Amino acid sequence: AAPKRQYTIGFSQCTNGDAWRQAMLAGMQKELSFHPEVRFRMKDARYSSALQQQQIREFLREGIDLLIVSANETEPVTPIVEEAYNRGIPVVILDRRTTSKLYTAYVGGNNLEVGQTAARYAAGLLGGRGQVLEVLGAPGSSPAIDRHRGFAQALAEYPGMQLVARVNSNWERPSVLTQLPAVLRQHPEVDLIFAHNDRLALGAYQVCKQLGRERQVRIVGVDGLPGPHGGIQLVQDGIINSTLLYSPGGEEAIRTAMRILQHQPFEKENPLSTMVIDSTNVLTMKLQTEKLSSQQQDIRRQQRLLQQQRATYASQQTVLYVLAAA
Ligand code: FRU
Repeated sequence: AAPKRQYTIGFSQCTNGDAWRQAMLAGMQKELSFHPEVRFRMKDARYSSALQQQQIREFLREGIDLLIVSANETEPVTPIVEEAYNRGIPVVILDRRTTSKLYTAYVGGNNLEVGQTAARYAAGLLGGRGQVLEVLGAPGSSPAIDRHRGFAQALAEYPGMQLVARVNSNWERPSVLTQLPAVLRQHPEVDLIFAHNDRLALGAYQVCKQLGRERQVRIVGVDGLPGPHGGIQLVQDGIINSTLLYSPGGEEAIRTAMRILQHQPFEKENPLSTMVIDSTNVLTMKLQTEKLSSQQQDIRRQQRLLQQQRATYASQQTVLYVLAAA
């Protein structure tokens, strides 16, 4: 067969410091294992938009055939992503958007819908009446902006539901632990907290517990990761009431990138769907994700076996060649 063209994919990741991002990377690596001809480079911006700009600039200098980017904040990262696009480098936006239309494809959840679904679920849970507090993701990042917009819009459809307070965060649990106690004390009637991810939701639970209010306040998170510390387990353990599934989309991002590189048809918008995970379906979700992960391990085992067989075959070829030459 004709040798496949070598491609270099550069992945500019806003942070690689949490289980959700690591699941994203694992998904990418799984899909990349079917494309050994691809060179894959990741740069971790560690939540710094300035570092992310610099790292994308480095990618442009080093030379890449396609850029995948999860933008730490929309505004500051937009110009450099536009520059890449304008230089003719295809751009796949993954999960966190820029403010620009200049990109080749988007892969990720619809965060407006995540917020709306959370609001409708909250209203259902509280019978249309209650006080709600929102813990937002980092200001300036597109999922925080869109989750809030969707949540506030949909909540406004219920006259008995009030959004009484908002707490900002940097997406990580410690920021909730410092900010939430005072706000929660000011609002003794809060019935429900919508937290923009499950790490923040766990922090909110810990604060409620400190204040002796964990029975009174229901908590809704986002992500729904499998595994011992993921959102699915938090729901199963009754620590949070529910979570909105938000898939990391690593596999889908690589699949879209490969279609673009190989000039195959692709969609510009590739939305990943969301759903509520609560006590009614958490066991099903848990069993299914466990099954999926054991199947993925099987795939990895088979790939290793295949590699070993290829190596054995290659060395046998060498022996045959040496014998024939003798
Ligand atoms: C992971 C994360 C998720 C969240 C997503 C939003 O880094 O904080 O918890 O859903 O990013 O971009």
